[in-house]
Amino acid sequence: MLTAQAVSVHFAGVRAIEDVSVALAPREILGLVGPNGAGKTTMVNVLSGFQAPHAGGVTLNGTAVTGRSSDWLARHGVVRTFQAVRLFRKLTVSENVEASLVSVGSGRGAARRKAMEILSYLGISHRAHLQGDALNYGDERRVGIARALALNPAFLLLDEPAAGMNVAEAEALADLIRRIRDDFGCGILLIEHNMALITRICERMQVMASGRTIAVGTPAEVFENPVFRSAYLGTGAL
Ligand SMILES: Nc1ncnc2c1ncn2[C@@H]1O[C@H](COP(=O)(O)OP(=O)(O)OP(=O)(O)O)[C@@H](O)[C@H]1O
Ligand SMILES: [Mg+2]
Repeated sequence: MLTAQAVSVHFAGVRAIEDVSVALAPREILGLVGPNGAGKTTMVNVLSGFQAPHAGGVTLNGTAVTGRSSDWLARHGVVRTFQAVRLFRKLTVSENVEASLVSVGSGRGAARRKAMEILSYLGISHRAHLQGDALNYGDERRVGIARALALNPAFLLLDEPAAGMNVAEAEALADLIRRIRDDFGCGILLIEHNMALITRICERMQVMASGRTIAVGTPAEVFENPVFRSAYLGTGAL
């Protein structure tokens, strides 16, 4: 289990998140939704060690890990992707995945073998020798996922992996995310604006707005939640 308990993060007076708790169970797919600026990425930053909380804490399988570095958490199974993919543009696809493995202490030979294994799993081994800046958008996002998957996550945090994809690409990605959960046995937290994608693959969803949680439950429960309905349905955001 990966949890954040009553976490707050403030930036120079901006309350990015205020008293938010998240619980991601093993093998669960949890959707994290909410409007721009709701605090979703900040919560993923806290869970993955990129941002220390100003109040509250993070636990991994019952042990406090608040303040641990992102590298430490990655080595212990908590791995995230970024809203902006951030590939090394002058390295090849394979080298990009290898770099992620080397950064957590893997040797070069093992990293190369693992990178090829993951690229093949994702169906992009034919792109392995392309340079990062030669990829189309969908492949670039798949390489971002490859970099995370190479680290054998127990908990995988995906920050808007479908951003910019068309409907067919987003549906293929949703199927891939479910396959990753089944094959790797990891819990997945998915930040996503597309409610159809969320309801297609998430067992539970958590809705944030203005740095707070306004609803949590199964998608069916959340859609019946009056607070969610007044915040979302009236705005046409669905
Ligand atoms: N490093 C930072 N410095 C200052 N303010 C920040 C920083 N990071 C985030 N914020 C602010 O914190 C709030 C939450 O931002 P966050 O990026 O977590 O939202 P989000 O839900 O991921 O939004 P989006 O859907 O646009 O990605 C916003 O008001 C944002 O401007
Ligand atoms: Mg964000």
